[in-house]
Amino acid sequence: MITIEKIIKKKAKGKALSKEEINFFVNGYTKGEINDELMTSLLKAICEKGMNEKETIRLTTSMLNSGSRIDLSSIGVCLDKHSSGGVSDSTTLILAPILASLGLKMVKMSGRSLGFTGGTIDKFETFEANTNLSLDEAKEIANKVGAVILCQTETLVPADKKIYALRDKTNTVASLPLIASSIVSKKLASGAKIIVLDVKYGEGAFMENLVEAKKLAKLMVKILKKNKILACAVVSDMNQPLGNNIGNYMEVKEVISTLKENIDSRLLTLSKTIASLLVSMKEKISLNVATKKVDFAVSEKLAYEKLKEMVTSQGGKLNLFKEEKLNFISVISESSGYVNSIKTKELGELTHELCRIKGCKGVSVLVKVGDKIGLGEEIIRIYAPKKYADMFYKKYLDTIKISKIKTSPLPLIYDIIY
Ligand code: URA
Repeated sequence: MITIEKIIKKKAKGKALSKEEINFFVNGYTKGEINDELMTSLLKAICEKGMNEKETIRLTTSMLNSGSRIDLSSIGVCLDKHSSGGVSDSTTLILAPILASLGLKMVKMSGRSLGFTGGTIDKFETFEANTNLSLDEAKEIANKVGAVILCQTETLVPADKKIYALRDKTNTVASLPLIASSIVSKKLASGAKIIVLDVKYGEGAFMENLVEAKKLAKLMVKILKKNKILACAVVSDMNQPLGNNIGNYMEVKEVISTLKENIDSRLLTLSKTIASLLVSMKEKISLNVATKKVDFAVSEKLAYEKLKEMVTSQGGKLNLFKEEKLNFISVISESSGYVNSIKTKELGELTHELCRIKGCKGVSVLVKVGDKIGLGEEIIRIYAPKKYADMFYKKYLDTIKISKIKTSPLPLIYDIIY
């Protein structure tokens, strides 16, 4: 007879679990028949001993089968992307309007921010847009506008909802098979047929090792393809914030100015790259031709107009972000040299804390790794009332490490895995 105690012992010895054993613990924990303590022991054993590819595929399927799969066929072939989580990562809010402005469809189910990472839903709600949509409402908007952003439904992979919450509490998030099955089961359940994964690598990401990040990307693409999804993955940098701004309000402000003024940045480049990969897979055209289409959508402001349409169709207001002058306090460099490193996770956590205070909007980080900095130069702007900005000043100053040694700028994309 299968028992959870036997499964834990087997995994602790590093042995592979069978399909029946995996179904047993996924279903048992989801239904509340296995308690948190035993499940934590199993998660720890998985973190320590890992899972082979077959087990990871079985785990993904078992999690997927804990809920129902969304059918988006009435809209046509839908596109999706997923980021493994980072700081100042608003790519979804840039690429969704790009795709919709090119006549493609995206029903984007997103989550809220988790720990130091931002969440698309929190950002989109800064427009006062309604993201608590029923599936029928979302499909109607997607049919009309092209793209819609909504909260993940309660029934989307219930096993992941419970297991992820426990992993978050018990420090068992950073495991390749657990991350892969969590992300891929949700993507498979969401109904899209063409998906680009953005696997973040770096100090401000779950994957702090590039080799492991590439392994994760390869594994997830393989599982998606096995499930007849057209997929590829980008392994991108998270050793510094992707955009300049951190904090929901400030990040959305950056999204608007990026699309309105076509401002070149790492944030725009990554968004356009992911959009181009999706367009190329959907239209079966070369990446070169797809890139030209995406560039056109941005330079001709089609994507900006589409963003406005997306916001208003979900009851939001773009004029909440009109050109008001925000007060800020400048963080000033106390030495000269080159930006050697940026404590990205710390920046995310600090800004999370700052933005919980009424009237505090977030920060702009004005430097990137490799930049030459003079003594007394402005490196960060804290958009908060002075008394709060002063409280955080030293902590923000310490996130930017300046050294006399010349440092090279960081790559943005380390690999694309097909
Ligand atoms: N994002 C997810 O959805 N799941 C994980 O396990 C990690 C990041």
